Amino acid sequence: MTSADTQETGQGLPRHVAIIMDGNGRWAKQRRLPRPLGHREGVKSLRRVVQHGIDRGLEAMTLFAFSSENWRRPALEVKLLMELFSVVLRSEIKRLMDNNARLRFIGDRSAFSSRLCESMRLAEETTGRNTGMTLVIAANYGGRWDIAQAARRAALDVVAGRLAAEDITAETLSPYMSLADLPEPDLFIRTGGEERISNFLLWQMAYTEFYFTECLWPDFDEAALDTAMLSFAGRQRRFGRTGDQVEQRGGA
Ligand code: IPE
Ligand code: IPE
Ligand code: MG
Repeated sequence: MTSADTQETGQGLPRHVAIIMDGNGRWAKQRRLPRPLGHREGVKSLRRVVQHGIDRGLEAMTLFAFSSENWRRPALEVKLLMELFSVVLRSEIKRLMDNNARLRFIGDRSAFSSRLCESMRLAEETTGRNTGMTLVIAANYGGRWDIAQAARRAALDVVAGRLAAEDITAETLSPYMSLADLPEPDLFIRTGGEERISNFLLWQMAYTEFYFTECLWPDFDEAALDTAMLSFAGRQRRFGRTGDQVEQRGGA
């Protein structure tokens, strides 16, 4: 079975898992703790899940850390999330290096402080030559922003004469999107019980398998990731074809 067939029959491991890490606030509230403690606990889950993804041999994992809409939260919570982001950024580099993992960020960086931008750039540079799993952190990311930035850059190429307007198709626009050099997410997981996409990877998840769990992010662990991946393994991905067609291709 070729890797393309494996991807189409939905068997085996996903190559790329994308996760909305939701439920930190409710986890804290249930314990009558302040929301920031939920976020701090969420960082522990993040470490566990990233390590497990690496150990399971995933090619890529994309985690939604802060959405373009999360600026609407109380200023104090935003400030604490930014602080947590910088602290975790600094502390995780060594662990990622030890695991030969690459770190990358997607999202609009223009809203971040120059100090944070520099830490992000340095982290990408330091881990950039690693050849293991790519960990992507979506920070100030929005799926609509992504499509708009791709359209803007394509338009600039049209103006510069590098691209003809009439040649713009889904295929020619794809390379301008974030994550264009990675396989598209095979499996999307959202913890915390909400069943929505909240402006995450709108373009890239056109054919991704969705998995929702009530489990709050701080409670999500290695076994929970395995359960999600097992659910994925049992699905038939048809990409528009009939089930019979997929079975024939898979068995060929
Ligand atoms: C997700 O947890 C973390 C971020 C959005 C940064 P929430 O903070 O959204 O947790 P709930 O949804 O309020 O429980
Ligand atoms: C999505 O969670 C964003 C992140 C986990 C970073 P939210 O908690 O912000 O999503 P909504 O507002 O409930 O849709
Ligand atoms: Mg939430």
